[in-house]
Amino acid sequence: MAERLKAAQRLSDNLFGTLHGGHLPEVICDHGEGIYLFDQDGKKYIDFSGGPHVVSIGHGNKKVREAMLRQMEKVSFFFRSFWLSEPLLELAARIIKVAPSNFTMCQFCNSGSEANETAIKIARQYHVERGKPEKYMVITRWQGYHGMTLGALSAGGHTMRRQKFEPMLHQWPKIGAPLCYRCAYDLSYPGCKIKCARALEEVINQVGPQYVAAFIAESIGGAGTAAMVPVPEYYPMIREICDKYDVLFIDDEVICGFGRTGRWFGIEHWGVAPDIMTAAKGMTGGYTPMAVVILDEKIGRVFNEKGASFIHGFTMEGNPVSAAACLTVIDIIESEGLVARSARLGEYFFKKGRESLAQHPTVGDIRGKGLLMGIELVKNRETREPFEPKFMVANRFQQIAMEKGVMGYPATGMANGVKGDSFLVSPPFIIKEEEIDTAFDRLDAAFTEFERECL
Ligand SMILES: Cc1ncc(COP(=O)(O)O)c(C=O)c1O
Repeated sequence: MAERLKAAQRLSDNLFGTLHGGHLPEVICDHGEGIYLFDQDGKKYIDFSGGPHVVSIGHGNKKVREAMLRQMEKVSFFFRSFWLSEPLLELAARIIKVAPSNFTMCQFCNSGSEANETAIKIARQYHVERGKPEKYMVITRWQGYHGMTLGALSAGGHTMRRQKFEPMLHQWPKIGAPLCYRCAYDLSYPGCKIKCARALEEVINQVGPQYVAAFIAESIGGAGTAAMVPVPEYYPMIREICDKYDVLFIDDEVICGFGRTGRWFGIEHWGVAPDIMTAAKGMTGGYTPMAVVILDEKIGRVFNEKGASFIHGFTMEGNPVSAAACLTVIDIIESEGLVARSARLGEYFFKKGRESLAQHPTVGDIRGKGLLMGIELVKNRETREPFEPKFMVANRFQQIAMEKGVMGYPATGMANGVKGDSFLVSPPFIIKEEEIDTAFDRLDAAFTEFERECL
């Protein structure tokens, strides 16, 4: 093992992002099976992070492998402008079937970042085609995360990720995150009268509604807010404000889409219909890079009426092998009732998580929905004081958890975009209750060790 690791570390000199990404992983992943990942020594890890948030149906699914192989035996690639693709047509129809009823069309791409870039461009061109070319601004939220490409990073409000690229980003207006644990407006619910939603209307009026094309938000928060769940009034108010000012509501479902939170899409918990949704992770199950932008009927109608083509496209978008993989993943989610399972197991997951971890002095908050949980790590539970960012405690906790055989995702910035540490867990939907127990027992032990070191 040591020899193989040394050889891999030598080879990793050729991997830019890995080498310069902060720290080099010290274990080589060998294979995956169900909810488990195995290293080259045969040590078994519970993939409690599911990717992060990717591995919906578990690792090593034979049906997906067979579907991909079948498609590869037929054809692996042809260019989307010259040919129709059967698996892609089927996939689009299947996505529209599970999406809320106002959605009628899909635009495919290869990653969550691309999907959000694409959604922003669709929103812009939609207004142009309707004779409103002055509408270009996208209002976003602090601590939101929508991806790493420049447009997606501009939409994001994660300060640490933006800092070195700031001069290159669109300086779009931002409102505070609807994170009650760290209210951006220093208020408390319900006395706040949902200031975090009302802030959208204030900003629209400040910049001029005639310039605002869209508002983008993750239905339930991810990397920047650690599974933040806005209060029940939040999205109905956002919807109303968007309608009032002719602003499209883009809902980023890259994490929540396809069952993660116990509904097909996270926004369904609020009974609100966005105009555009982006999705990626769970739909692929991790078997292929693929993402989708799902569009309200009115958007397709405007483009059709104008005979306008969308000025966009990626060479690899809608790859037929990827389409076959996603189709099978969605088939499995549907036929095995995994969305309902995620809702049902989610109750157990949170009960067990709180029982196991809430007594730890560094656990400030446990939040989320379904099988998506954010555990916020704090230096002082009473004052909610975060750790100093230089100590990178979320990363340290992740290392300890991994040594104990459980994978989770370290995230930072929930306090102000820079400070604040958390650990996100989001297991495959096929996990069993006893496996949830084992994972939390290990995390309990990991916290005990972490607190010996960090307090
Ligand atoms: C909510 C959200 N949107 C977008 C993205 C970007 O997706 P990708 O990493 O596939 O580009 C992520 C990735 O974690 C995400 O969590």
